[in-house]
Amino acid sequence: MAENYDVIVIGAGPGGYVCAIRAAQLGLKTACVEMRETLGGTCLNIGCIPSKALLQSSELFEEANHKFADHGIGVAGLTLDLARMQARRAEVVTANVKGIEFLFRKNKVTWLKGRGRIAGPGQVEVNGETYGAKNIVIATGSESTPLRGVEVDEKRIVTSTGGLELDKVPGHLVVIGGGVIGLELGSVWRRLGAEVTVVEFLDHIVPGTDREVGKTFERILGKQGLKFRLKTKVTAAEKGEDGVTLTLEPAAGGEAETLKADVVLLSIGRRAFADGLGAAEAGVALDERGRVKTDAHYATSVPGIYAIGDVIAGPMLAHKAEEEGVAVAEIIAGQAGHVNYDAIPAVVYTWPEVASVGQTEEQLKEKGVAYKVGKFPFTANGRARAMGDTDGFVKILADAKTDRVLGAHIIGPDAGTLIAELVMAIEFGASSEDVARTCHAHPSLNEAVKEAALAVEGRALHI
Ligand code: FAD
Ligand code: NAI
Repeated sequence: MAENYDVIVIGAGPGGYVCAIRAAQLGLKTACVEMRETLGGTCLNIGCIPSKALLQSSELFEEANHKFADHGIGVAGLTLDLARMQARRAEVVTANVKGIEFLFRKNKVTWLKGRGRIAGPGQVEVNGETYGAKNIVIATGSESTPLRGVEVDEKRIVTSTGGLELDKVPGHLVVIGGGVIGLELGSVWRRLGAEVTVVEFLDHIVPGTDREVGKTFERILGKQGLKFRLKTKVTAAEKGEDGVTLTLEPAAGGEAETLKADVVLLSIGRRAFADGLGAAEAGVALDERGRVKTDAHYATSVPGIYAIGDVIAGPMLAHKAEEEGVAVAEIIAGQAGHVNYDAIPAVVYTWPEVASVGQTEEQLKEKGVAYKVGKFPFTANGRARAMGDTDGFVKILADAKTDRVLGAHIIGPDAGTLIAELVMAIEFGASSEDVARTCHAHPSLNEAVKEAALAVEGRALHI
């Protein structure tokens, strides 16, 4: 046995690296296995961080192109240096992943470089060495879901990984899947000059989002120039000299047609990744979708082996993985780690942003919960007007009897930041009255949240 640890975490994404840091903070001798050249997992290397870098750059370009004039600012000879934009994206990633290496050193977490395999109970093998582990945490994340007939080469048919690294703005980008990745990356390339068509199987985009918000989102993105082909499926993709020819069919079946693309982005979801881990061989039970099965305390079917993040059930979000990482480290250390799944925000970082927490109206109706709705549009918010960003609204759903906040949905400027106070409201069990009676700075976008809370009882002041 090479060395013994209290905890070995397999995977250094937001779930794994945070778990390792928390375990080390709690005095446990901890190692984290990562096979990538850098720490940070999908999120820091090929997900959240690079996509937000490009969203930021492309939004600035869009503003200079289309919004500055409104403010009386003229920009003559605006140019796009995509190579520099991409280099900046890479720099942002490098700074972030190096930051995790620093945190590992600071907290005395050992990085075992290589592919980790569960060799037996309490044993992890990395590069031919076997390490002892009183506890093993599986945090191996997820990968892009493939689609039959659409063969990814990461050049012309790309997943988000290739879609973040294009060295040329495509003439026509066809996105398969109108979910978070498709709309974020679709927005990036549209802003930089591509024609973008989103092919979506369902009759609406962003499934699972509050429908009223989803419909507004679709309309706003449409106004920005994104084209939607709803209720449509892609059955084949053929690469030729001059791009890719896709075969489309109505989702319900029917006559096929073709659509030409320079680049195709496949973004129909992600699936749990546990390849080569030896989990199943070690007796760790997986569910029907290949996710590691856990109980409420992240324990798998094998004592001493836990799992967290994208590889288990639940929303595939970095902050959800992080919360689970902290919780499982605390559980292993004998504390009462816990995650409140009612208070996990979800944000789409387009412009406007879409942010939500808790229940949607559709979910409340389905559960038969009586609720009240308070809504406030950004057109009536002074700060949004000053910014010239008045698209969207705040919507708060409160229990009809107790007034407790059950859900909140925001589409509008900086919605991803605004949602935080409503996540806190749900976490603290606040009522809409509590939010309505809290003083909010003027003039701020947050006032729209207060006004939506006032609107729950029909007493918004500025509309
Ligand atoms: P991962 O981040 O996938 O990390 C798992 C790590 O385990 C990987 O580094 C992998 O190399 C390693 N690994 C796997 N198997 C082994 C093995 N056997 N041995 C050693 N190492 C192994 N979420 C958000 O909340 N906000 C966003 O804005 C956001 N944007 C995204 C944008 C894109 C384009 C994508 C693809 C995802 C985005 N996500 C976002 C989702 C987010 O990236 C994931 O939810 C998050 O990374 C999950 O963390 P994790 O730790 O479970 O797994
Ligand atoms: P997604 O689940 O968000 O969206 C997939 C979309 O594809 C859905 O609208 C679905 O109906 C559609 N679809 C499925 N099969 C299809 C088919 N055959 N043809 C056409 N459409 C089809 O998945 P996405 O966008 O790939 O992202 C994966 C995950 O990554 C997200 O669920 C999210 O958890 C995470 N992510 C989070 C981000 C954030 O928090 N801002 C950003 C990017 C990704």
